Order: sequence, then C-alpha cells, then structure tokens
Amino acid sequence: MMHTPIKKSWAEPYKIKMVELLKMTTKAQRKKALLEAGYNTFLLRSEDLYIDLLTDSGTSAMSDHQWAGMMLGDEAYAGSRNFYHLEEVVRNIYGYKYLVPTHQGRGAENILSKILIKKGDIIPGNMYFTTTRLHQELAGGKFEDIIIDEAHDPENEFPFKGNVDLDKLEKLIKKHGAAKIPYISIATSVNMAGGQPISMKNLKELRTLTNKHGIRIIHDMTRVAENAHFIQQREKGYQHKSIRDIVKEINSYTDGATMSAKKDALVNIGGFLAVNEWDVFEEARNMVVVYEGLHTYGGLAGRDMEAMAIGIMESINDDHIHARVGQVVYLGEKMISYGVPIVKPIGGHGIFVDAKKFLPHIPQDQFPAQTLAAEVYLDSGVRTMERGVVSAGRKANGENYYPKLELVRFTIPRRVYTQAHMDVIAESTARVYERRHKINGLKMIYEPKYLRFFQARFEQLPK
Ligand code: F0G
Repeated sequence: MMHTPIKKSWAEPYKIKMVELLKMTTKAQRKKALLEAGYNTFLLRSEDLYIDLLTDSGTSAMSDHQWAGMMLGDEAYAGSRNFYHLEEVVRNIYGYKYLVPTHQGRGAENILSKILIKKGDIIPGNMYFTTTRLHQELAGGKFEDIIIDEAHDPENEFPFKGNVDLDKLEKLIKKHGAAKIPYISIATSVNMAGGQPISMKNLKELRTLTNKHGIRIIHDMTRVAENAHFIQQREKGYQHKSIRDIVKEINSYTDGATMSAKKDALVNIGGFLAVNEWDVFEEARNMVVVYEGLHTYGGLAGRDMEAMAIGIMESINDDHIHARVGQVVYLGEKMISYGVPIVKPIGGHGIFVDAKKFLPHIPQDQFPAQTLAAEVYLDSGVRTMERGVVSAGRKANGENYYPKLELVRFTIPRRVYTQAHMDVIAESTARVYERRHKINGLKMIYEPKYLRFFQARFEQLPK
C-alpha cells in the first residue's frame, strides 16, 4: 500500500473565538448587485458578498488583546495615555524618533507632502501608489518611477522586484539637480507591483547614494513586516534574524515614514507620520491640528491608538507573519496549479492576477482587469479589485496613464479567512478562466475627477 509522504505544514498561531456569519447569494442576486454597482466592485454592498478580498486595509481581525486594549482607551482631548504608549512602541519597534498620529495613511501623506514638496519638485519612488502620488502632485511635485524594470514584468521571478534602479535615480539627480528632489519615496512590499519586497542590500546602496547628495528617504512602511519576511526568507545573512530586528534595520536606512496602520499593524483605522528631524516634526505638529486633530490624537480615538500600539507588537511576531504570508502563498500556488496567470513571485498581501494574459482579447481601453473583477464576483460572490488602467488614472494634462501592469488584486485580510476559503477562491477564478473567451470588455460611463477607480461606473460592451 502506498502512503502519502508526510509534509510539515504551517498553521495559524491563533484560534477563533467569535465568528461573523456570511450571507450566501445566488447568481441572479449577484447579477443584479453588479448592475447596480456599475461593474465596479468598490460600489458593491458588503452584505452582497461572500468573501471580501477588495483590500487588506482595515479589514483584518483584531486579537483579544487588541479588543481588551480598546477598553483602556483614554479619551482625553489632549495628552491621552494611549498616545504615549503608541509613541513608545513606534520608537522601540520602528526606531523613528517623533510621532504624529493621523486618521490613516493618506492623512500622513498629505501633511508630509505639504511640508517637504515645493512646486516643480521631483519625487522619485519605487513605483507609484495612488494616494501617495496624488498628494505629491497636489503639493506641486512630480512623481518619477525609479523601480527596476523587472517590477513591470509579471512573469519575471526576480526575488526583490521592489528594488530601486540606482542608475535611473542617478540620471534623475543629474538632470534635475539634488535641490529639486526633497526626498525619495520608498515603499516596502510595493503594493502596485504585487506586494514585492525591496532588499536590504538595495536599501543600503540607496542610503549611500542619497547621503552623497543630501537627499532624504521617506519610507511608506504600510507593509514593512511582510517585506521583512521576504528578506528573512530570501536574502543572505538574514535567515537567523528576527522579523523585529529586520524591520528595525530597514527603518534605520530611512529618515521618516508614513504609515497606514490598517494593514501590517492589524487595526481597522489609524496611521501616522514618523520622522527623525525635529524641524519636520515641528511643522507636522502644527499642520496636523489643521487637517486631522490635535497632535496627541490626530483624528483617532484613544482606544484606536491603544489597539494600534498592541497591533504593531503582534505584527512583528515571526509566527504571525509566516502564517500570514503562508496563506497568501497557498492561494497563489493553487491558482498556478489551475493555469491562472498571476504575478510572480507571489507577493505578501495578495495574489495579483494578470488580466492582460487572462483576457488577451480585451484591449486595455476596455478595462480587462475591471472586467475580470466583475466576472469573479458574478461567479462566486468573491470581491476583488482592479489595479490597472482605471486605478492609474490620468496625468495632469488629462491623458490616461497606461500602466504595463493590468492586474486584479485578490487581497487577503489578516487572520480573517480559512484555508477552505482559499480553495473556494482559487476554484472560482479557475472557472472564470475556463470561460474566458466568452467574456466581453467594459465601457466607462462615469468618471470621477480624483482617484477614479473608487467610484467610476461601467457598462458591459455588446457581444
Ligand atoms: N501606502 C500604501 C502602500 C497603501 O497600500 C495605502 C493604502 C496607503 C499608502 C494609503 O493608506 O488607505 O490608510 O489612507 N492602500 C489600501 C489598499 C487602500 O487597498 O491597498 P490609507
């Protein structure tokens, strides 16, 4: 008799104490919901979904400790003890000196961009992120992509597709002069590239180069722990270092950070700006009062800051992050086994399906990724998100950006779904893949002025 070889599986380092019931829908109900939502998954009602993979932002499950922390909220208008706890955690774990809390990541991006960017400045970055670039542009700056070319190729399996191309950066410095570049905008786990990490080696080289020119590095540290996991798995010399140490080392090569704590840090709302320069901090403390709230709460309740402080501690636990990324990899491998084209290597926070490859008969003007997201919802009630031409939006001169990557993001919330959910998701995507030739593109019938992907509406093109 043949026996299955014994493998060593990972499993979640937690058990489930409370569950949230989900509604199962019929195809007819989903069809109606999709029409009402103008084929935009952002406009679907959450109660019409089965599995929600729209985003990993603010959708994670808090732990019993975080919930207990909510009860310790000190809701004083000024000087809440939860602020001081958060400040201590940000200093100890992340290593940045000064903290300004904000309601979420873009609140910090707004303040930082207004402080550091002057009209006509250039902000080089390792691929754009929607809100980050928009705030840079609204402050009068121009974003320039300096990520390595490999990042724009979904098939390329380079292990650090979040790396900066130092030649591209040097050319920009030569062309514009260092004085026109207030900072380099560096994201860990580059979201739009598919959750791809930057290597420690590349960061160190970037630090050396920017030091030479006196240019700051500002870190979008939204998913820094996931990036640290990939460094631990893939980079020489880091196998025996803890996630906590790797996170701290990453941050040590940068001058400040914006954070959406709704991702890595396991809270439903919250973010911050953290900097090492006193002058920038002073300015930010002034400005946060205008846009967010007093500098000791920044638009958050005391309880939110407490949950964030505890969530940050949990996020850098090795077992947590291995299970988190392990679940994403499980889904990705399942998709690959069905022949579904996805971005490789598999990233940290979700699976990015290559819609250009999935639906090669649909031109980019007819929104292949938007179309695919709608079809997956129709098949099984799984909600995903477009990350392609709709998300990329328009340039200042009104022309569309046409990104090379036309992707559908299956984003996995942390500690929320089980492995059986992952099976259902992969099987549904495989079913849509089987009937891909019968799928038609879309036409945009309403386009908002800013961040159009959130609220744009579409119509199916006739067969
Ligand atoms: N930076 C990155 C890399 C992000 O992924 C996000 C948000 C932000 C900044 C902005 O933070 O939402 O708290 O204001 N990303 C979400 C997503 C929206 O679905 O990827 P925020």
